[in-house]
Order: sequence, then C-alpha cells, then structure tokens
Amino acid sequence: MDSAPVHPSQAIGHVAEIYGPVVDIACDPLPPLHRALTAAVDHERYVFEVHQHLDRTRVRAITLHRTSGLKRGTPVYDTGEAVRVPVAPEVLGRLLNVFGEPLDGGEPLPQGEFRAVLSRPPALHEAVPASGILETGIKVIDLLCPFVRGGKTGLFGGAGVGKTVLIMEFMHAIVALHQGVSVFGGVGERIREGHELWHEMRDTGVLANAVLVFGQMDESPGVRFRVGLTALTYAEYLRDALGKEVLFLMDNAFRFVQAGSEVSGLLGRMPATVGYQPTLLSEVAELQDRIVSTQRGAITSVQAIYVPADDMTDPAVGALLSHLDTSVILSRSQAGKGIYPAVDPLLSSSKMMDRHFLGDHHYAVAEGVREHLARYQELEDIITMLGIEELSEKDRLTVQRARRLQRYLSQPFHTVSEHTGIPGVSVPLHQTLADCEGFLRGDYDAVPEDRCYMRGAMTAER
Ligand SMILES: Nc1ncnc2c1ncn2[C@@H]1O[C@H](COP(=O)(O)OP(=O)(O)OP(=O)(O)O)[C@@H](O)[C@H]1O
Ligand SMILES: [Mg+2]
Repeated sequence: MDSAPVHPSQAIGHVAEIYGPVVDIACDPLPPLHRALTAAVDHERYVFEVHQHLDRTRVRAITLHRTSGLKRGTPVYDTGEAVRVPVAPEVLGRLLNVFGEPLDGGEPLPQGEFRAVLSRPPALHEAVPASGILETGIKVIDLLCPFVRGGKTGLFGGAGVGKTVLIMEFMHAIVALHQGVSVFGGVGERIREGHELWHEMRDTGVLANAVLVFGQMDESPGVRFRVGLTALTYAEYLRDALGKEVLFLMDNAFRFVQAGSEVSGLLGRMPATVGYQPTLLSEVAELQDRIVSTQRGAITSVQAIYVPADDMTDPAVGALLSHLDTSVILSRSQAGKGIYPAVDPLLSSSKMMDRHFLGDHHYAVAEGVREHLARYQELEDIITMLGIEELSEKDRLTVQRARRLQRYLSQPFHTVSEHTGIPGVSVPLHQTLADCEGFLRGDYDAVPEDRCYMRGAMTAER
C-alpha cells in the first residue's frame, strides 16, 4: 500500500530500562503510539511497538523479539510507521513469521509493497453480508451448525477435545470441495503442530494455495498478540489484490486474547473482568471486525477457541462468541463416548439455522434430529436408573433412533486416518439429509448401532 521502507539514520533515543519483553525508551521527539522502533546489537535486530507515553521523554514499548542481548543505552531508531509486512502474490506457498519473514528457509518476499498489520476494517458500504452455506462434507456440521460463506465460525472446546483436528479437516475439505486459498494463523499453540501442518501441506500439494503465519507459544507476548493480525493482513491482501475467495483459519483465537492480557499486565494496567485486560472487548473487535467480505472477495473464517476449564461463561470466550455466525461447541462428554468430531449437537448453533436460509427440507430434518437427541438426553437419567424397559413405547422408539443418529453423526476424518486406521470420508449434505430422514422414519431401526458408527453415508444399508 505504501512506498519503500524508511531507512532512519539518526537514532531518536536509547533503551532506558528493560523488564523482560517491556522496554522503556528515552527519546526525543516522542514517537506516536503503535509506531515501530528498531535497534540492533551485533547483527541482531529488535523491533519495539510503542504502547504508552510515560512522560515527555520516555515511551514504554513491547518487544516483538526476544530481549536477550539487549542492553541499556542501546540506540533506538524510528521506522516512521507501524509494524508492517511485505505483500506480494508470491506469498502463496510460504511459511512466515509475524514480520512476514520466511520461516521455511526460502527467499524473503519481494520488498516492493507493504501493509500495516494494524488497520481499519473496510467502510460499512464496502462490506457485503455473509450468504449461503459453505458445505464441509462433515455430517454433523453441515446438518446442525452449517458454516456461512463469508461468515465467521468458532470451534469452541476445552483442552484436547479435537479443535485442531477439526480445523485441519476443514482445511482439507475446502481444498477438496472448493478451490480457494487459505491463510492459517498459528497463534500461541504447539510448535510441533506448526511443523506438522507445513510438512503435511507440502506433501499433499495444497501448500501452493496457502499461506502459513506462525507465532507459537515459545514467542514473546508481543508476537503472539500481533501474529493473528499479520495472518489477517495476508488474508485481506489476497482478497483485495487477487480477488480470491479466502479461508482464514486461526488456531487459537483464545491465545490472542491471552497475549493481549499479558501485554496489558506488562504495561501495568489493572485487570478488569476476572483477570482479563480492561481492553478485552475492543481488542477482540479490532481483530474480528476486520474479517469481512467485500465486493472484491470473501473471507470466511474458522477460529479454534480454547475454553478454559470447559467454562463457556469465561469472559474471553463470551467476547469472541458475540462476533460469530456459527459456533461449533466441542464437548468432553461426546469425546468421552468416542463420538468424533465431539460436536455437541444441542449446544452448537448457526445463524443459518432458519427455515428461510436452509429451505424447508433441511430445516425439518435438522429439527427432527435435534428433537430426538434432546429427548434422549432428557431420558438418559431415567434409563440409567430404571432401564429402558420402563419407558413408554413412543419414548423407547425415540431413544432407539436417537442412539443410532448419535453414532451416525460421528465421522472418520482424513487428517487422523493414519492414527485411527480408518480412511476419512466426506459426505455431501444431500446425502446426510437423506440418511437422517431415513433414521427419523425408522428405515434403519433394524441396523445394529455399531454399524451406524464412524462411517460415511448409509447407502449400503438400504
Ligand atoms: N475427529 C477425530 N477423530 C479421531 N480422534 C480425534 C478426533 N479429534 C480429536 N481426536 C483425538 O483427540 C486428540 C486431541 O485432539 P486435538 O489436538 O485436536 O485437540 P485440541 O482441542 O486442539 O487440544 P488443545 O486444546 O490441547 O489444543 C487427538 O490427538 C486425537 O487423538
Ligand atoms: Mg489444539
């Protein structure tokens, strides 16, 4: 967007104090907030982002690098702008860090055009509303909590319930079913997962249509706080400059909030709600409100969201939830029963769950399935205490069908087929609807329950 980088020759000040990732810089003149400053020690480059004006001669900044090697008195230079990344069509196929620098051992991106990672969302009149279902081939999702094309989906769940696996499967589906480009932001999660993803994408040949941006859990809070915005900046670039349909994935959006809270603490702000930063809502909005589709192209986003202590009322979770069109809630009880993906069919929801959007057929089948599963849940305690024989004829039939539906809504995934030994399957929505209708009608009452489990369509059972 802007021209060549500014090469400052004169230092504007020096490092005055260092508190881990927080650095106070004595300088004249004072650089504005969010300005990127740099310093160099023995060929090591440091980047600082200004976050506070302490007084007339000092600013407090967050480092976007490790601070080892940095000393008091180190001269500091002004870059003349906020943190920015190089953008070029060559970004496709690359693995980058928060500065848009290669992590894959390849050449740096061409340094012709840059975009600031902090920017405003497009004007309201440019945004186009989300529309239509984006089929994923994942039965339970397409049926009960469909993804919205150009919308935002959150995958919520506590530790180890399958968020990362689901996001990978979804990436796989998008490459297989829809020819778009994807941008993956690895924010504060396991370093190993980043490596695995890159290798897998390279081996399967899907890397050419993807950009991976990583700032994992070993990075400083400043990096984890900004890396999601870097990834988003690339998604916006692909949308605007190349007019592509972009899928923007993030694992994990909770880590972005957490990094913001660390930064806030380092800056000495008092926490507000339950230990979170007072700026929680505005920080979340700053990221989420930029994920929009325009006339030039659509950005569909899927974000994994860690739920601390499985508590959906956590303020960070609530702040993220309010921005979403679809929320897929992964539950420990489903995972405990071996039902993967561990989507809670009753708690998960989508703005699309409306007769008007889905059409009568899909809506009616989804309602039927939900009613059966809800009734089964209500009766579960009675069944445990008194046994299924005590139920009325009608309830017994509902339970029988619900148990089959529950198993049918599990599905073998491509991305874990090496571990599970079951090949992955993708089921088109019309097939899922036909199968579920069959279950509700009683077509499969005689099929043993375990034959409904971890499979694709029911076609072979007819
Ligand atoms: N769809 C699935 N099919 C089979 N196994 C699965 C599936 N999803 C998750 N698992 C199992 O659960 C484990 C944890 O999954 P995953 O790493 O996706 O969880 P997570 O929610 O991302 O965890 P964390 O909060 O630690 O990041 C996997 O290694 C796998 O063994
Ligand atoms: Mg994970």
